[in-house]
Amino acid sequence: MSRVYVTRAIADEALASIRAEAEVELWPDPDAPPPREVLLREVRAVDGLLCLLTDAIDAEVIEAGEGLRVISNYAVGHDNVDVACATARGILVCNTPGVLTETTADLAWALLMAAARRVVEADGYLRAGRWRSWSPQLMLGQDVQGATLGIVGFGRIGQAVARRARGFEMRILYSDIARKPEAEEAVGAEFVDLRALLRASDFVSVHTPLTEETHHLIGAEELALMKPTAVLINTARGPVVDGGALAEALRERRIFGAGLDVFESEPPAPDDALLKLDNIVVLPHIASASVATRTRMAMMAAENLLAGLRGESPPHIVNPEAL
Ligand code: DGY
Repeated sequence: MSRVYVTRAIADEALASIRAEAEVELWPDPDAPPPREVLLREVRAVDGLLCLLTDAIDAEVIEAGEGLRVISNYAVGHDNVDVACATARGILVCNTPGVLTETTADLAWALLMAAARRVVEADGYLRAGRWRSWSPQLMLGQDVQGATLGIVGFGRIGQAVARRARGFEMRILYSDIARKPEAEEAVGAEFVDLRALLRASDFVSVHTPLTEETHHLIGAEELALMKPTAVLINTARGPVVDGGALAEALRERRIFGAGLDVFESEPPAPDDALLKLDNIVVLPHIASASVATRTRMAMMAAENLLAGLRGESPPHIVNPEAL
């Protein structure tokens, strides 16, 4: 029987399917990843690893896994895995694309609406007993209907966000490394470069994977191009946006607001400047967190893992060249 290390409890049915074919060692804390030394120790003895975006699967971990054949990441993003190193050692790397697209797009929209209309700030205001009367100037926000939405990264999730924007009769702009004529036509989006997008958009929503090229793609210079009434949303990866520069832009009211589900360091430090501002909505990386989607992600991660261990081609493989 193959041996597998699972770095966090996932949906029961997915764990059961792995247990039917492999000996499973499961990290017991449901709320925190295994410490580095535990991961390095456990990976030595296994054929397969089912890991999360919170586990740094770098060269040291990969090389410690002498018998490792499959790394199944329970996420669509795989910036936590050194794919080149795994490929060089013939180890398959798998991810969970597609199943979380719509759920993630829904949450990007929840952040967009909440930041535009100051929903969280207004909720806190009322609960704090500060509401004295209906008032013409109370909690004024930005209109969404008919506004311009700029999507940075027009992949599956970016396109799903765009589809929802049609219901709000928005003008949709997008930037990406390459033009996507079919996707663009499907939602009536216009391809523009990033600078033009930032200048023209009322809402900017980030959907790029994290790579060397996209690290701090939105920094001080890019934020300076945005309208003072604009809102920035990030449900992709924290380091795509320079958090320090964003905090400054928000503090100086150079943009209207932001909604973040992801941070440069997760969780952010309690004294992170972003957490001190009232014109930002912050969430603990929950964009894919619906019961159905997390179950689908778990099942997909388990299927990828088991297929790789059986010597089959996993349904969702990041590095097919390692097969
Ligand atoms: C992913 O899959 O990459 C998300 O960040 C978590 O669902």
